Amino acid sequence: MRVIETARALQTLAEAERCAGQRLALVPTMGALHAGHRALLDAARKRADRVWLSIFVNPTQFGPKEDLARYPRPREHDLKLCREAGVDAVFLPSEEEMYPPGSQTFVEVTELSQGLCGRSRPAHFRGVATVVTKLLLIAKPHLAVFGEKDYQQLAVIRRLVQDLRMDVEILGVPTVREVDGLALSSRNVSLAAEARQQARVLVRALEAAERALASGELESAELLDLVRGELAKASRARVDYAELCDAQTLAPAPSVLAVPTLLALAVVFRNASEPDASVRLIDNRVLYPKPRQENRL
Ligand code: PAF
Repeated sequence: MRVIETARALQTLAEAERCAGQRLALVPTMGALHAGHRALLDAARKRADRVWLSIFVNPTQFGPKEDLARYPRPREHDLKLCREAGVDAVFLPSEEEMYPPGSQTFVEVTELSQGLCGRSRPAHFRGVATVVTKLLLIAKPHLAVFGEKDYQQLAVIRRLVQDLRMDVEILGVPTVREVDGLALSSRNVSLAAEARQQARVLVRALEAAERALASGELESAELLDLVRGELAKASRARVDYAELCDAQTLAPAPSVLAVPTLLALAVVFRNASEPDASVRLIDNRVLYPKPRQENRL
């Protein structure tokens, strides 16, 4: 497995591999790899000859009060996971490599970046769109793979690739979960025991909405009441948002659901021992409403 630190070296390798007719897949990450990333790598391996993974904790997608400094960086563990997964090359650039001195260019996907996570993290998706654009320009992959847990991020990336006419396929991979249903996330390791136990409330809330929908509940307000009721059971949780929106456009859902609808949640969990070190988790589910049957006598 090669470890590559400069954009120039990866660009040169990409040229050579493309000329040799190899199909390239890139899995962009911020490291702290887990089984969710492994699923992205396995999906990439099925569809490409060369699988590359990038690790870069991107400063521009963190707000001033967010956890950039605390973000886990277990490099040896990450490289081991990559070796075991048969990764061909890991791209491990420095901050200066990704943002050369004097950098002033950003990529912004305007509408899709505004709601949900964009509301409490105003510069987040600009940072994501910028770094993903750079990574795609450097690695020149045929395919790039992302997790569906970050649903809004995936929507932003699909839009930017379409808008910039980039010649790359974007693949979304279903969320991998712990046995109790908690979506895998690099931030889960920062949850203290009590908050970790309460974090199950996220998947319970999603499941409650799904069950209500299956039994005929199509009213947005009712579904959201149910979801908020579930989340309120966790004393360490503060709800950032619980929203229903169009699964394609992310526009707010109508009062009666009729088309595939994203139920998206973001919840901040406070650790008892370190109340300042809170952990923000997101999760989502796409709900597929069945149209109401008219009563026919
Ligand atoms: O999902 C992530 O890990 C990051 O947001 C990404 C896509 C690697 C960009 O920094």
